[in-house]
Amino acid sequence: MSLARTLCRAASGVAAPQVIVETHLANGLPGISIVGLPEKAVQESRDRVRCALQNSGFEVPKRRITIHLAPADLPKQGSRFDLAIAVGMLVASGQLPQSAAEDLELYGELALSGELRPVTGVLPAALAAQAAGHGMVLHPDNLPEASLVEGLVRYPVPHLLSLSAHLCGRQPIEPATYDVTAPAMHDLPDLADVRGQAQAKRVLEIAAAGQHNLLMVGPPGTGKSMLAHRLPGLLPEMSRAEALETAAIASVAGYPPDPDRWRQRPFRAPHHTCSGVALVGGGSHPKPGEISLAHHGVLFLDELPEYDNRVLDVLREPMENGAITIARATRSASYPARFQVVAAMNPCRDGYYGDGSQRCQCSPDQVRQYQNRISGPLRDRIDLQIQVPALRHDDLFGDASSGESSAVVRQRVQAAWERQQQRQGYSNARLAGQRLEAHCQLGHADQHVLVGAVDQLGLSARAYHRILRVARSIADLAVSDTIQRPHLLEAISYRQLDRRL
Ligand SMILES: Nc1ncnc2c1ncn2[C@@H]1O[C@H](COP(=O)(O)OP(=O)(O)OP(=O)(O)O)[C@@H](O)[C@H]1O
Ligand SMILES: [Mg+2]
Repeated sequence: MSLARTLCRAASGVAAPQVIVETHLANGLPGISIVGLPEKAVQESRDRVRCALQNSGFEVPKRRITIHLAPADLPKQGSRFDLAIAVGMLVASGQLPQSAAEDLELYGELALSGELRPVTGVLPAALAAQAAGHGMVLHPDNLPEASLVEGLVRYPVPHLLSLSAHLCGRQPIEPATYDVTAPAMHDLPDLADVRGQAQAKRVLEIAAAGQHNLLMVGPPGTGKSMLAHRLPGLLPEMSRAEALETAAIASVAGYPPDPDRWRQRPFRAPHHTCSGVALVGGGSHPKPGEISLAHHGVLFLDELPEYDNRVLDVLREPMENGAITIARATRSASYPARFQVVAAMNPCRDGYYGDGSQRCQCSPDQVRQYQNRISGPLRDRIDLQIQVPALRHDDLFGDASSGESSAVVRQRVQAAWERQQQRQGYSNARLAGQRLEAHCQLGHADQHVLVGAVDQLGLSARAYHRILRVARSIADLAVSDTIQRPHLLEAISYRQLDRRL
């Protein structure tokens, strides 16, 4: 027999479609050709494999070798196919038994010496391999990542020789049994560290409860960044499936998930000098960006007006859809991106506009210009916009207790999440259209109050809907099936910035 079949997987976004590596030996001029849309690194595989086989004491068949990576129309990239190609050549030339690697998926780059090297994007492949009932052969460094997948049989292999000894049955490798049980909350900063700022803490709780986007405006040093860092600690634990989704994105982006922290909600804080590609993803082989790395977690945009406007505008679509499709000339990729935005900014360039002191030197025009750097459509997607004022002296230095811990608040948030799941199956922040009207009904008198407030504050129709969504979350925190007057009034009270900005 001069035909062999080995298994591997390609990377396509967060999916890992199966690739069958077919190796055929024929009579003719000796040489190796790889077909099936191989990109540069896959093409170069034949030189690595040839050297690795020779240096490990195997024979490179002196025949015409054709390697087909099926399906033919799926682009293949990277060095992960080396191992599957090498084993295919050994099986086809009779140096390994035909059935040796039947239900095994083989991943690894080969060094010229025959040693294995780790590859990236292992987690999506591991998830798919487990679902297909296949075992997985990989470099020991890739094991922690693959071990996040329950029930997957994994063989750690450092060298081509140890794999061939295993496949011949001469020296079987014990499958790794290391299964991780990581805590979902891992020394996150606590809300009790923040002194005073009772309103901001309350709004942070509401934002957590309804997964609303939040903008905090205030002078320097009032605790805006501190508060933002405490949001992940208020959100309920991620389910295992959610955590795997987020970890798979990180894996594709080249950040192998940390086995101790992978259950934790992500908190991404890209710097304001970051590019559009870094933020939403891109490149010729589209990689996920910050918004996808923040999937199921928090995207913190500190000093919001400092970001390039065009960079911020690309956020609008994924903020609505919870996913991003990056199309490039040769290929496109889709990545999930359901993240919660927390943004912080100063009211003006000096930072002190409207704080009651005379420190701000900005003219009204300069203040307006500064605040207008954030486009209307982006602000429309931020349900909660509040001021975080300067702390009073005795708030900061007094010995009054600084309030509830994150764990206490998280329990209320968790209960509010469960109410939303039962009622509509997703968070209040995503309520729109008919669902919004159905779940956020107001009494006749309350309707009147809201319309009056919208008129008086000069708010838009969009703001009207945002108030309703926020009022729904306040009612959920208060374990109320209907939106009551106090819930509505509280939601309206968080709209004061609209008039000023
Ligand atoms: N409410 C607060 N409780 C306790 N410490 C605070 C509070 N506000 C500010 N601080 C202290 O001030 C430091 C700066 O706070 P933080 O970075 O959150 O301010 P900020 O509002 O983000 O300021 P900037 O606008 O300059 O970014 C904190 O590290 C903390 O030590
Ligand atoms: Mg800050």
